[in-house]
Amino acid sequence: MSLELLVELAGGVNNIRRILAPAGRITVAVHQPEPSPLPETISAEWVLGERQLSVTRGDITDAQLRALGEQISIKQREAATPHLEPQSSHYRPTWHIAPPQGLVNDPNGFVYHDGAYHLFYQWYPYSCEHKDKHWVHLKSNDLINWHHQSIALTPSDWFDSHGVFSGHAVSQDDGLWVFYTGNVRLGEERYRQTTQCMAHSVDGKTFVKHGPVIRELPEGVTEHFRDPKIFYANDKWFMILGAQTTALEGRLAVYHSPDLIHWTFDKLYGDELAPFGYMWECPDWFTLGDESFLVFGPQGIKDDNPHHTIGHQNRIFRMTLDEHDAFHFIEGWQLDAGFDFYAPQSMQTPDGRRVMVGWMGLPDEVNQPSCEDGWIHQLTTLRELRWQDGRIVQAPVQEIRDLRGAEQALTLSNTSIDLGTKSFELQLTLPWGSELQLMQNSDYAVRLIADEKLRVLRFDRSQTELREGDVIRELPLDCTDITLTILADSSSLEVFINHGEKVMTSRVFTPADATKITALGGAIDATFYLLNGSFQTYPLS
Ligand code: FRU
Repeated sequence: MSLELLVELAGGVNNIRRILAPAGRITVAVHQPEPSPLPETISAEWVLGERQLSVTRGDITDAQLRALGEQISIKQREAATPHLEPQSSHYRPTWHIAPPQGLVNDPNGFVYHDGAYHLFYQWYPYSCEHKDKHWVHLKSNDLINWHHQSIALTPSDWFDSHGVFSGHAVSQDDGLWVFYTGNVRLGEERYRQTTQCMAHSVDGKTFVKHGPVIRELPEGVTEHFRDPKIFYANDKWFMILGAQTTALEGRLAVYHSPDLIHWTFDKLYGDELAPFGYMWECPDWFTLGDESFLVFGPQGIKDDNPHHTIGHQNRIFRMTLDEHDAFHFIEGWQLDAGFDFYAPQSMQTPDGRRVMVGWMGLPDEVNQPSCEDGWIHQLTTLRELRWQDGRIVQAPVQEIRDLRGAEQALTLSNTSIDLGTKSFELQLTLPWGSELQLMQNSDYAVRLIADEKLRVLRFDRSQTELREGDVIRELPLDCTDITLTILADSSSLEVFINHGEKVMTSRVFTPADATKITALGGAIDATFYLLNGSFQTYPLS
């Protein structure tokens, strides 16, 4: 049967929700059950509440399927565009990237291309749930003001029907190439079908999908195989992916290519760390000076601290890539010791800085107070990473200073001060034995406690409106003074400790009037700046 006839019998392209290509067959899932009786050559079934019509694939080509995917993507964009209208919400950040509606997770495709910064994010437009992900495209000239460009990629094709999953971008003279994982779920068992896909944009605005460049999984891995990062080294392109072995251990999968299109599997790396989690997600790779680093999200790592129960972690490893293209893990650290930092990506600015952005949220969490306003999660402040005296240090990108109001000197004490805002920068030294209460009213507060006995900085969000997630993080510190730069933005706090040697990133939800700050254990001098951002522009321009 031809694809045209299948589409016609399914009620036309407007009635098609998605296309699937299980082995030897083509399936279309429809919005409304098919209008008329079907010929015997079509089988119809209900799969998890979705009506699916299937035929044998016959001579239906990839190009025909792609053309149908293109039509479905137009409909998907039309349906999702109204969800780019931001819902008002007192939790909405003023200078962090947050979804206008729906759910955001990983940043994607962060790159400098053709004179501008490009950043995409994983987006489910319709509710605060992890469902069929889209890529939203933002652009900026200054790393501060981000302009929504388009819904760049939608889950319109047989190879990404259940999500255009995470990936990176490569800037070339002939345009912007993006690589991502196509996520597909088949049948009642929701069997996962994973491919690595490519799309191209000549003008940096419109993206044309080229489909999978890697269709088959290598030996020894499960379908948890995703999140391509591409880089050039040793005269070839490398693609690194997060992988899970059939023994359910996380590894780094590596492919090589001469041309970005033809990819050959090399091997899995990371045996020397094992056991180190059941899956590694979202690898990133970059150099700082002469050193190379791998960032990834190992899942399922246990922590000795009983307060730290969440297995979705972040790590950075100093690495070498030798002349035989082999990766070696040298030493690793936690990148962020807060509650909400996952799936970061980085990019090099034209003046040579390595700038990173992460997802300020965690897998599994789908219920927070902002869901009442129709959105959940956000991205972190952009931060610059440096390698300094054998350590990774992080600082908010210098461009954030452009958001600062006038510098104000404050003396914090046990008499609370009403800052009248939750979007600010605060710099201070927190003596051991003292405590800072932020985003506070009579019932709620976030507490930063310098516990002198345990020598930990404790971030306590137990007295907030948080609905899911851990409430205490403890960071051991071996220092005489704790210097803090705190960035606050409506429903988040990012705490840069001891000049960026450590960072604690967290979403915090307190009522709109919780704008007070108090210091317990002695007066503390602080420098305060209002941070006033018009960070994102809507609607699409
Ligand atoms: C990490 C992640 C990625 C995946 C994406 C899907 O948060 O699970 O591994 O590509 O989210 O949205």
